[in-house]
Amino acid sequence: PGEWQKVMRAEAPVHFDEARGCWDVFLYEDVQQVLSDHKRFSSARQQQGQQESLISMDPPKHARYRTLVSQAFTLKAVQNLAPRIAELANELIDDVLAKGEMDLVDAISFPLPVIVIAEMLGVPKEDRDKFKYWSDLMVQGVDISAGEDYQALMLEKQKAMQELYQYFGAIIHERRIQRQNDMISALLDAKVEDQHLELPELLSFCFLLLVAGNETTTNLITNSIYTFLEDRTRYEQLVNDRSLLEGAIEEVLRFRSPVQSMSRIAVMDLELRGQQIKQGDELIAWIGSANLDEQKFPEADTFIINRSPNQHLAFGHGVHFCLGAPLARLEAQIALHAILTKLPNLRRVEGHQPKVIASPIVYGFKDLQVQF
Ligand code: HEM
Repeated sequence: PGEWQKVMRAEAPVHFDEARGCWDVFLYEDVQQVLSDHKRFSSARQQQGQQESLISMDPPKHARYRTLVSQAFTLKAVQNLAPRIAELANELIDDVLAKGEMDLVDAISFPLPVIVIAEMLGVPKEDRDKFKYWSDLMVQGVDISAGEDYQALMLEKQKAMQELYQYFGAIIHERRIQRQNDMISALLDAKVEDQHLELPELLSFCFLLLVAGNETTTNLITNSIYTFLEDRTRYEQLVNDRSLLEGAIEEVLRFRSPVQSMSRIAVMDLELRGQQIKQGDELIAWIGSANLDEQKFPEADTFIINRSPNQHLAFGHGVHFCLGAPLARLEAQIALHAILTKLPNLRRVEGHQPKVIASPIVYGFKDLQVQF
């Protein structure tokens, strides 16, 4: 991926895009700086019709909020989910085992993260289809070139968002009365300096989990299998030596980063790599490009299964570093481990070209047909 970005890294590493009216930033060093130097680059970008949430807050407000939600999102809480995630992954594979063929996205990559987050939030089983629909819709883009209707999708999204807020509002209300062993209960108990999260904050966080956590993890799992089968010796290597898996996933995160870009707003007039950036200008930090920067990664264009060191920026950098990174890594590890174990002879369906998701922000595939 990223041929044009390679050209940009060499010729115009910080570049103003006239058409979109924003700055593109391509080099590792600069992307890292734009993501983490919150004194110069703010995360408080306006998202139309959306409530402010963790990902769009600056320090010091961000710190209070992040401390609160991290209490519910601890590494231990995530690790406790491992047996359940394994059970789900195995069930999903068993469901298609007899067919000998599947669309990986449909059968495993998509349902797994959605079910995991639904269960974490305490969404009852009977509501899971509804939840899946909302969660899918929230991140759905419009392919105008394919004649899809932008207005209609926006309306559908708006309606779904209202339903979702109402739905979570009701669950939060129930948990206030009686706590359960789920994340909403933990969020209700979390406090900093004796202050709890307010209802709008709770709602926007639940919403953020759906938007930030589902499609990204789906794409990590699909991109991994795509990459392992691209050169099948990789898949065989992993079948034979599972100790390579953790590093291989990190290399997929670098090589095919599920989140390709994140934006910031310049807090003041400033200079970046000789370019004059004005207060209020928008900058796009190209994570996908930074992760392929030859100055940072030797043989950056090559997938090296045991690359070390591998300080990719796939989960961001600095105070906004992905809160869900331990969960995403765990889910990918468990899902891929189960696939390698149950489907050791997995291969692509010949002649089938998977459709790439048309989006500047996410990198992934709409489908991936495989046989076993
Ligand atoms: C933030 C990527 C999975 C929740 C971020 C950021 C990136 C990212 C790049 C930084 C945003 C910024 O700097 O503006 C990814 C990738 C994932 C993944 C590549 C999967 C492979 C998840 C999951 C969850 C999650 C599973 C939760 C269930 C969040 C949250 C933030 C965040 C809440 C905001 C943190 C903050 O602003 O302090 N993610 N993410 N992510 N992610 Fe993830």
